[in-house]
Amino acid sequence: MCGIVGYTGKSSALNPVIDGLRRLEYRGYDSAGIALPTQIGKPLFIEKRAGKLINLEEALKNTPETKSGIGHTRWATHGGPTDANAHPHLDNEGKLALIHNGIIENYIELRTELEKRGHKFKSETDTESVVHLLSDARKSHNGDLAAAMRDICKQLRGSFTLLALHSDNPTIIVGARRNSPLVVGVGDGENFLASDVSAFISHTKVALELGQDQIVEISPQGVVVTDLTGKVMTPKQYEISWDASAAERGGYPHFMLKEIYEQPKAIADTLIGRLAGLDVKLKFKKFNKIVIVACGTAYNAGLVGKYAIEKWSGIAVDVELASEYRYRQPSIDKKTLVIPISQSGETMDTLMAMRYAKDKGATIFSVCNTNGSTIPRESDAVLYTHAGPEIAVASTKAFATQLIAMYLIGLEIGKQLKVVKKELVEEIIQELSELPAKVEQVLETVEPLRELTRTLKDSQSILFLGRHVGYPTALEGALKLKELAYMHAEGFAGGELKHGPIALIDVGTPVVAIMPPENSILAEKMASNIQEVKARGAVVIAISEFEFKSADHLIRIPQVHEFLQPVLSVVPLQVIAYEMAIARGNDVDQPRNLAKSVTVE
Ligand code: M6R
Repeated sequence: MCGIVGYTGKSSALNPVIDGLRRLEYRGYDSAGIALPTQIGKPLFIEKRAGKLINLEEALKNTPETKSGIGHTRWATHGGPTDANAHPHLDNEGKLALIHNGIIENYIELRTELEKRGHKFKSETDTESVVHLLSDARKSHNGDLAAAMRDICKQLRGSFTLLALHSDNPTIIVGARRNSPLVVGVGDGENFLASDVSAFISHTKVALELGQDQIVEISPQGVVVTDLTGKVMTPKQYEISWDASAAERGGYPHFMLKEIYEQPKAIADTLIGRLAGLDVKLKFKKFNKIVIVACGTAYNAGLVGKYAIEKWSGIAVDVELASEYRYRQPSIDKKTLVIPISQSGETMDTLMAMRYAKDKGATIFSVCNTNGSTIPRESDAVLYTHAGPEIAVASTKAFATQLIAMYLIGLEIGKQLKVVKKELVEEIIQELSELPAKVEQVLETVEPLRELTRTLKDSQSILFLGRHVGYPTALEGALKLKELAYMHAEGFAGGELKHGPIALIDVGTPVVAIMPPENSILAEKMASNIQEVKARGAVVIAISEFEFKSADHLIRIPQVHEFLQPVLSVVPLQVIAYEMAIARGNDVDQPRNLAKSVTVE
């Protein structure tokens, strides 16, 4: 949730630290802060400010030149978004600074004990207990910060990425990770630590993957990784395949709009080399059940996946909210295939659901967009989506590619089990290959929808209706609108309306209806649902492949195989949410209260 960056090297630290924070701000933007060691053995220079990074930047007028530093951008958990609760947190002497992503579950007992020992606390955060604990441990390890970090990690419960810096050894930064991301950037005479590679991509493309419960010490001279016993580890090194420009706005006013327009490419990239089949070693014959676990938008992609995978593979598919899954102690065994879907690969709810299933003997086949993140690392097999970096908090192109992953997995299982007809496989492959161009076509026609959306900006509520795969698409449309426009929005299955939700319809209520393909039985049913809401005064915006006459406004999309329709029909829904956020004066890329990567349960 929070973004963390550390730099040590030959350049002035301020630039790489602030630049890194700018790229990590998607992870949290309640407050931001930095710590810089100005003089050996003296209190550190600290600046921290509530609110977005810009507030910190404005406060940094006379910042000292230093060759190392750490920075943090926060998504608040313990303690509101104030200056005092912003990171870094300091020890009593102000010489040791610490930043943290995650939650320390035993912080109250630690704090009580530390206060008894004379430590003075200035914030309401769980993190502050850690810096005081580390301070004592460092003293008992004769100033060895890495040894102290190993020591305290054994005492901490919860999830954390920690970075610490002491003014006695100003060029050394020590990091630790448990259930929370931390990567090392290896440069020439300079090294980096960050929540993800985007923070240092403009400086180096060489990264090291850190494992669970590993401690890392960086200095300009090198990187040393150990486990909690002090045993030196050899981390996996990899080359980052995208460049800094992929994480820039490239002329678009917002990342979200850029990412909406990148969907044709993201889909094409995810399909490359896979239309003939997936490179997975799994033997699907052994599974009698598939469970998809995911959160938010990824969950909605999973719901679409259920329709396709179950139909094409013949295996029953359940889709579970990851945050609920393990707590109901579901029945799982060796015959269960679990498919976690995650853009970030770090979503704690999804990770925990997957670990639970793995412990019970399930095989894990994850779908992920982030190379080297925890979920794929702990999976038996992975299908990477190639959406490229998704910076806007609202997921768009990642969703499109997650849908593609669902179709590819459904076809793969169906083919391996020989339950899907060759003709159907050929038809779907052809349809998949045409999708990038069709999404392009949708994008070329959305301008009038943007105007229409602006006229709806004062609506109390917007409802989304769909049937079959249009139902999860409706859920996704409603999620996007809530997240960006801060207005009431709900998605319903068309047939479910009459069982309660139709009471929400009032004169003028906008209803966005996703029409099933023409001449299908579901198109007729949906047309009836639309009549029902119109009869009660709703204003209907239909997204349809055909000339549907009963809508007040019609958004046309190209014809496509019914299972693939969400890839096209979601695009206007993304545009509605985007435009509504602007019309209502909201922050598009960083909506309130949210963070891109949710690394707490
Ligand atoms: O990184 P993940 O795909 O695991 O994230 C899951 C959800 O937090 C995410 O899809 C969220 O719902 C989006 N911000 C919605 O736009």
